[in-house]
Amino acid sequence: MSETKNCAAGADSLLCTGKATANTAGVQSKDEGQTAVQPERLIFRSMQLEDVPVICQIEQQAFTSPWTAEAFINELTNNHFARYMVMEWEDKVIGYGGMWTIMDEAHVTNIAVCEGYRGQGLGERLLHELQRTAVFFGAGRMTLEVRVSNEPAKNLYRKLGFEPSGVRPGYYSDNGEDALIMWAELDQVKAGAQDDED
Ligand SMILES: CC(C)(COP(=O)(O)OP(=O)(O)OC[C@H]1O[C@@H](n2cnc3c(N)ncnc32)[C@H](O)[C@@H]1OP(=O)(O)O)[C@@H](O)C(=O)NCCC(=O)NCCS
Repeated sequence: MSETKNCAAGADSLLCTGKATANTAGVQSKDEGQTAVQPERLIFRSMQLEDVPVICQIEQQAFTSPWTAEAFINELTNNHFARYMVMEWEDKVIGYGGMWTIMDEAHVTNIAVCEGYRGQGLGERLLHELQRTAVFFGAGRMTLEVRVSNEPAKNLYRKLGFEPSGVRPGYYSDNGEDALIMWAELDQVKAGAQDDED
């Protein structure tokens, strides 16, 4: 993922702490601090400017060098190549991802799932939605960078067809960590989209 500055989150509420709230309709307790989500109730939609404060909260949870609110606003308003998506459940944003689609390539800029909602296939759903969206915009391949130490993310990417293709030495300025560059061909995603149309 790309490197940027600190996120100045404006949201006060604990919108995505993911604390288990048994007895709330549609919510089942999973582990302590975990919320089990019914996948059929997930909504994927384009990120809006109004989402930015919540996105910044998730961003701060998820990354040591989180993006600023300004960075997201700039992406949403000035970057015609940028496509950002949020994953919503029970009216809460619980994850998001973004990419740039340029010609037949998509470059993932960030992806994150709220802490309390991880480990139940949501990151996989989200990345698959990003891949489907990339195909919709004409991409045949997708790339990203990931910290070499980020095993959960690397596993997720491998699971969705990404393979390592190189290293950017010292890419992350906070600790000088290397970035692993990964690429995925989107043929299977394209074939799936074609089946849906038929
Ligand atoms: C990476 C991230 C998006 C994964 O989201 P998630 O919802 O927990 O992932 P899923 O439950 O969909 O898991 C999908 C696959 O990812 C891998 N994975 C997820 N969590 C893992 C963990 N803690 N350890 C090892 N592998 C893991 C597994 O391969 C898993 O498939 P499996 O369940 O069949 O083993 C999430 O951990 C996150 O937001 N991390 C912080 C932000 C981040 O690092 N983003 C990536 C930047 S490059």
